Amino acid sequence: MDDVSSPRSTIALSHVDLSLGTGAARVHVLKDISVEIGAGQAVGLVGPSGSGKSTLLMVMAGLERADKGRVTVAGTDITRLGEDALARFRGRHIGIVFQSFHLIPTMTALENVAVPLELMGRTDAFARAAQELEAVGLSARAQHYPGQLSGGEQQRVALARALAPEPPILVADEPTGNLDEATGRQIMDLIFSVHRARGTTLVLVTHDTALARRCQRVLSLHSGVVKDDSAMAPRAGAEAL
Ligand SMILES: Nc1ncnc2c1ncn2[C@@H]1O[C@H](COP(=O)(O)OP(=O)(O)OP(=O)(O)O)[C@@H](O)[C@H]1O
Ligand SMILES: [Mg+2]
Repeated sequence: MDDVSSPRSTIALSHVDLSLGTGAARVHVLKDISVEIGAGQAVGLVGPSGSGKSTLLMVMAGLERADKGRVTVAGTDITRLGEDALARFRGRHIGIVFQSFHLIPTMTALENVAVPLELMGRTDAFARAAQELEAVGLSARAQHYPGQLSGGEQQRVALARALAPEPPILVADEPTGNLDEATGRQIMDLIFSVHRARGTTLVLVTHDTALARRCQRVLSLHSGVVKDDSAMAPRAGAEAL
């Protein structure tokens, strides 16, 4: 594919191949994918259902291992890391947000946000968690459990949790998929404001082409192959709140 790489690429996939499932259910999901994402870029990942978007995102985030090829993130070849080292690497470098928030139901909002910080051994875990909750406008809900929060509030907690360790990379898989339009827009505005303010590299899976166009670049996936890679100029004011 065309080389649109940045000299400071923060995610680089080289000839990545991945099949999932066994026997008759085995699917060749990612087919010889090579792509580089520059530090601080915002990249939209689009394509039909089943084209491999979520799988590609999981490979970039080190949650799924490629069968073949190399995945380099922030200068580290993560295909060479063992499970423990990979988990530590993820904790420091990559924030992940899913469509279905994945909060721990028995923990308060504050405790959920503190979890990754505690795993890193941060002594200021709860103070940092409180700051991140404030940044997403949820200080007043810190002691609420996920079941006591609206969908949009739960996604804001999940976003605060992903951002609390201040990762240089944020990946999001249809983060507004379970939210109404107005709430989804709030979440995306938050994600883009963090991208701008912290220079976070952003990879966003979405079915929403208007949303993808808020990114500088859109990768289009079809049947496990990158069919289109447009380094698009954002529309004037497209990222404005
Ligand atoms: N564990 C698995 N075993 C077998 N096949 C799988 C597995 N996980 C995913 N697949 C297949 O891989 C393909 C890509 O799945 P993926 O979830 O990455 O698609 P997607 O582009 O994110 O789709 P959607 O837009 O619906 O979320 C699909 O055809 C899916 O059925
Ligand atoms: Mg998906």
